[in-house]
Amino acid sequence: MKIAVIGTGYVGLVTGACLSEFGIEAWCVDIDQDKVDALRRGEIPIYEPQLEELVVSNHEEGNLHFTTKMSEAVPQADVVMIAVGTPEMKTGEADLQYVFAAAEEIARHLSGYTVVTTKSTVPVGTSRAICARMKTVNPTADFDVASNPEFLREGSAVMDFMRPDRIVVGADTERAHELMQQLYRPLVLGGVHLEASNPETSELAKYAANSFLAVKVTFINEVADLCDEVVADVGAVSRSMGMDFRIAPTFLNAGPGYGGSCFPKDTKAFARMGREFGARQTIVDSVILANNRRKEMLAGKVAEACGGSVKGKNVAVLGVAFKPNTDDVRESPALDLLPGLREAGANVSAHDPKALFQVQREVDDETITYHTDLEDCISDADAVVVLTEWDDYKELEPDWLHKKMRGNTFVDFRNLYDTEEMLESGFEYFSVGRPRALYQARDGRSVALQQAAE
Ligand code: UDX
Repeated sequence: MKIAVIGTGYVGLVTGACLSEFGIEAWCVDIDQDKVDALRRGEIPIYEPQLEELVVSNHEEGNLHFTTKMSEAVPQADVVMIAVGTPEMKTGEADLQYVFAAAEEIARHLSGYTVVTTKSTVPVGTSRAICARMKTVNPTADFDVASNPEFLREGSAVMDFMRPDRIVVGADTERAHELMQQLYRPLVLGGVHLEASNPETSELAKYAANSFLAVKVTFINEVADLCDEVVADVGAVSRSMGMDFRIAPTFLNAGPGYGGSCFPKDTKAFARMGREFGARQTIVDSVILANNRRKEMLAGKVAEACGGSVKGKNVAVLGVAFKPNTDDVRESPALDLLPGLREAGANVSAHDPKALFQVQREVDDETITYHTDLEDCISDADAVVVLTEWDDYKELEPDWLHKKMRGNTFVDFRNLYDTEEMLESGFEYFSVGRPRALYQARDGRSVALQQAAE
């Protein structure tokens, strides 16, 4: 089989590279000549584990190609995948101009029966709209449109493609479904379920999945806030909830709020669809508000931990990527925390293993110092704040920290450290949903037990 993938962002590039690894000849198309030239040289513009070796090896073997020309990729392709960006507009709507432009350009180059699929996350009804536009551009073309959403997480996109929980395909004809079954045969033979439906079902399944994950994360974040007030341990609450197989343990780690290029965009688009079709998604509406508010309050929480104000204090922020193993800072909590600390008068330094270049483009503040060296970043800090759970930050030695820091405040927004150990090491330690009162024993009994007895 031969496929064409339009767009070489993390979805398109991972899709093309992984399908070529299955022995399918893949042509990745991008309008940016520099990007195509770099890919041909084996230079990968995004950081994704395992992606570089997959691209280089399959490009060398001659079954992964990069081009700017649809005319080279589309006519020979059995399946054409649209994997271009669907950025969020001010209104919260997904901007489909790039999807439609790609679809119309594809239509001009079709030859022979082809299935054109949307890989990008697109609002319900987009596949049908694409079909109509393509028929207008090329009335005689023999094609079907299908929805085939990706479920790739940044930082594990290759693994998620090679070992998906499921494949979802939405199409209107048996012919299209058969071709897609053939395309994913290696995964289906390996036991992966392929859910075949109509396009709207497939498009909705993607938004519903992402929105539900955002709901789950926001739920435990709000439970954590209650834990802080009633002196309970959100880690124990999360573990006991997760042991119920209907809930499952994943995505129940309380933190600073979700970010990334998907949850924020997809939840807004889903909520908007609810309004547009008269089926309000009230839960997702409230999750969007709760998550935004949470990120806006991060600087205030750091100020609270510093005794009420960070004015004139040196605050070192560890981690600016929206999550570990990626260099992506889109909608990262850092984009709220860094400016928030500056506005509150703190002297801010930041460290991240991969995302420093990206964050400096987003946070326009010359006074923030960015460090590739962790020791430099925390030297003379009055407070250290862990924002992204990179492995680099998981085992910082308390003695080493005390020696390097000027103060002793440690704010752990990812609950990486043990509260008792940090308190015993002499830190003013704060985390999410694990109040210090749980550990400040009085009369040899924890405060929680004390209160329970009262
Ligand atoms: C997500 C979906 O997981 C993926 O299936 C979809 O295709 C794209 O969107 P991604 O945005 O890469 O993937 O990140 P993910 O790992 O899902 O995390 C999303 C956000 O939730 C991050 O900000 C992360 O920090 C946060 N999160 C996740 C938590 O705060 N707690 C958790 O327990 C899990």
